[in-house]
Amino acid sequence: MRMNTPHPLKKVLRLRPVVPLALPHRTIRPSSILGYDIPKDTVIIPNLQGANLDEMVWERPQEFWPDRFLKPGKNPKVTSFGCGARVCLGEPLARVELFMVLANLLQTFTLLPEGALPSLQPQPYSGVNLLMQPFQVRLQPRDLGAPGHDQCQ
Ligand code: HEM
Repeated sequence: MRMNTPHPLKKVLRLRPVVPLALPHRTIRPSSILGYDIPKDTVIIPNLQGANLDEMVWERPQEFWPDRFLKPGKNPKVTSFGCGARVCLGEPLARVELFMVLANLLQTFTLLPEGALPSLQPQPYSGVNLLMQPFQVRLQPRDLGAPGHDQCQ
């Protein structure tokens, strides 16, 4: 199945990719990227978040601005699932799952923050994944009018 990722999700994946750096890869022959020579046996670690926030590529790169993906013309590629020949094998599944989980959550509940929400600004971290600071949110079931919908547990 192929589906387009809704632009707010695409935007979140661009601004805060789950993994800011891709896996290390080693060149098996001399190569080049944008005119830079890469000798054989060089370890390359693509900086995915760096590419997603490159101001030479993106207009207002640090802004949460989902409508950018509605602008006519071709948008730059979001690299959050890797780049080159060895991109994430689970990308189509991950995109469908993200959409289904978020859509079901928002359809079923109103999300009400409890107390202060953490800053969305990037925090210093050491690890493979970008993590969110802990916060509390109350899930209030929506009354959709259909039988059984007010019985969420
Ligand atoms: C939001 C969810 C996910 C993100 C952001 C993500 C991101 C990535 C990234 C950045 C890589 C490294 C690509 C590279 O080296 O250039 C990768 C590799 C990989 N991912 Fe994911 N991934 C996600 C979910 C999944 C899921 C659900 C699966 C499997 C069901 C999966 C399977 C794999 C595999 C097998 C590789 C290694 C591919 C290879 O080296 O040939 N990923 N992923």
